[in-house]
Amino acid sequence: TQTPGTTERALGFQAVPVSMDNQVVVPEGYSSKTFLPWGTPITGSYPDYRADGTNSGADQEEQVGMHHDGMHFFPIDQKSGGNSSTEGLLVMNHEYINQKAIHAEGATYNADDSRPADEVRKEIAAHGVSVVHIKQDANGEWDVVFGSALNRRVTGGTEMEIRGPVRGYHKLFTKFSPNGNRTRGTLNNCSMGPTPWGTYLTAEENWHGYFANSDATQPREQIRHGVGSESRYDWELADNKADQYVRFNVSALGGSASEDYRNEANTFGFMVEIDPFNPESMPQKRTALGRFGHEGVIFAPAKEGEPVVCYSGDDSRFEYIYKFVSSKPYYAATAGGYLLDEGTLYVARFNEDGSGEWLALDLEDPAFAGKVDAAKGTTVGDVAFDGFENQADVLLNTRLAADIAGATPMDRPEWGAVDPNTGEVYFTLTNNTKRTEDQVNAANPVAQNKNGHIIRWQEAGNDYTAGSFEWDIFVFAGEQGTETVVDGDAVVTLNDDNIFNSPDGLWFDYNGRLWIQTDGYSDEPFGNQMMLAANPETREIKRFFVGPQGCEVTGVVTTPDSKTMFVNIQHPRGNWPNAAEDRPRDACVIVTRNDGGVIGA
Ligand code: FEO
Ligand code: CA
Ligand code: CA
Ligand code: CA
Repeated sequence: TQTPGTTERALGFQAVPVSMDNQVVVPEGYSSKTFLPWGTPITGSYPDYRADGTNSGADQEEQVGMHHDGMHFFPIDQKSGGNSSTEGLLVMNHEYINQKAIHAEGATYNADDSRPADEVRKEIAAHGVSVVHIKQDANGEWDVVFGSALNRRVTGGTEMEIRGPVRGYHKLFTKFSPNGNRTRGTLNNCSMGPTPWGTYLTAEENWHGYFANSDATQPREQIRHGVGSESRYDWELADNKADQYVRFNVSALGGSASEDYRNEANTFGFMVEIDPFNPESMPQKRTALGRFGHEGVIFAPAKEGEPVVCYSGDDSRFEYIYKFVSSKPYYAATAGGYLLDEGTLYVARFNEDGSGEWLALDLEDPAFAGKVDAAKGTTVGDVAFDGFENQADVLLNTRLAADIAGATPMDRPEWGAVDPNTGEVYFTLTNNTKRTEDQVNAANPVAQNKNGHIIRWQEAGNDYTAGSFEWDIFVFAGEQGTETVVDGDAVVTLNDDNIFNSPDGLWFDYNGRLWIQTDGYSDEPFGNQMMLAANPETREIKRFFVGPQGCEVTGVVTTPDSKTMFVNIQHPRGNWPNAAEDRPRDACVIVTRNDGGVIGA
């Protein structure tokens, strides 16, 4: 068994060059193999994947979803204190879909512009999360454990509980849940975070695109996120007019809020907790962590008797980074999701001098309450602000609350990671081409930031509950020669071995190496999207992996022994990974070292 943070962080592999080929590239001495592509049967009747796109909606509900994103490996014996590296639950998100690839002839419409209901069913089922029980055989080959009761699909239609302060708030009343306690489905699940008690939090990122609102005016809960008059996939137009589908029309249809779905969009934008070891458990939307375009969530190491702390980014241009601190203390023996239901949500302000502050978004905090009072009667962003009804209203409108608090608008915060050796917290700021010269600040210093950067901070006194921190920029992404300068010295100068743009996925492995995944542009000189490894101590960075054409590389985890690495490939192009088929399939890639050694060492 390894103790995190006690072994070498040096990068022992030879960097791979940039690549434009439609295949995965790994270093010399390593091998890769695709695993769990979209459509792999994992539950129920285990319906075979049909390469012509003719699987039904019911089939998709029993198969791996599309557009793989964040992912975690839970050792099968974890509950009993074990650390298996040969059997476990691989849990992964399915962020969105390729409508052209998912059906035989792409998305279709009837003569009256409605959509065939089974197409809608299939698209909703291709979203969400897959829990897959996997095991290595005697030859070291990984496969699905056929018939395991732990295999599970959670989809855009699975019933879920609303938890925390927003539960039961009248702005969540719907025809489905007149008391605002439940909803159906999780959508646009991008990054994730494993909790200290062995469950999985999945993030709801660009959920706004799934709803249509044709009312003349929209509520502020939708305006701040950009819900439009048309939805991305037109699910509300399903021709069977099933309640499950018409709910994506969030227009007010007359009468009261509990007679239609005007409030349905208020049940999305949260972190959702799934217990992978309890397939009967209902997923829980944890509203105390705020409602926004959640990307990853990263927990600080849990300490006995102290609050639970986690961080989450809001991936939109000029949005913010948040921290949640639980009210109740963590005790390993009794820890659970209830710890995420009571606490304080903070938002980050990065000062020009390298210091930073956490601003409470809590009506009982005098500083915040004073700012809320002062903002009443003004326009905040695009919203005429008339106050918050209560703390549930604050959390439902987290972005608005953060505007009022005076947080620092960032260059699209994506994933976070905590260095097991130093306790520093890292976040990717993927890019922001809309930032103008007069909008730059020390933490986001690049105008038209097309390549992105990675920021990090250390909490005051290395106490994760602290109200202040010290920050610096770990690295600026870009072309060859891009420098990251500290006290006048270039501590990183990018070269052929490590040019990259648009850092997105971020993960510290169990030895303290930092893995950086990209979701950006593939023009020369960058080529296809990639994954690099960094030594956080020396800032040495080397390209480890290049994905196939058109994809982003997102989601990475290893087994506890660091000898099997899982990497997700999202929205590949053409017919990757199977040249004999005629449509692309998102897939996981298993990376191993030919000598059986530790990945990256
Ligand atoms: Fe879905 Fe922010 O990446
Ligand atoms: Ca992402
Ligand atoms: Ca991204
Ligand atoms: Ca993506």
